[in-house]
Amino acid sequence: MEKEFTFSYRHLKSIDELTDDQKKVFAAAEKACKKAYAPYSKFKVGAALLLNDDTLVLGSNQENKAYPAGLCAERVALFSYGAQHNTQGIKILAITSNGSMLKNDQFFSPCGGCRQVMAEYASMQEAPYEILIKNEDGSFLIFESIYNLLPFTFGTK
Ligand code: THU
Repeated sequence: MEKEFTFSYRHLKSIDELTDDQKKVFAAAEKACKKAYAPYSKFKVGAALLLNDDTLVLGSNQENKAYPAGLCAERVALFSYGAQHNTQGIKILAITSNGSMLKNDQFFSPCGGCRQVMAEYASMQEAPYEILIKNEDGSFLIFESIYNLLPFTFGTK
């Protein structure tokens, strides 16, 4: 029997269409992006989490001469949340980037490893959190849950 999986996401043309919470967490991701350490790829990524109690947790990609030892911005933010907070729950994860790795018409889409980690934190808090991504062209993608970016994770219901 053939079955179909579909999901929806929003594509907003400009920052003016974001809610106050989205603007706040996006501004934090932009701030985080400035702290990225990306001398090898020259592609800076900033991530920020807005927690349910309004706390912001920031992360940025941190590279290393021994390439695989580096870590993506999303995972730096999520692991920092796990290590320092982890009870309030995540409301929104925002991601932004700066560099020439992506062309103007390409979407920024988080890597597979980060999606798996995002799914684990959604499962831990037993609630989805929104994922807000800024594209090169200044538009935004909004996913209501990681399960729209990573369907059929291990043990999915
Ligand atoms: N990067 C992230 O921080 N997040 C992603 O989702 C994709 C890629 C980083 C890793 C590396 O430091 C640089 O971007 C180029 O791949």
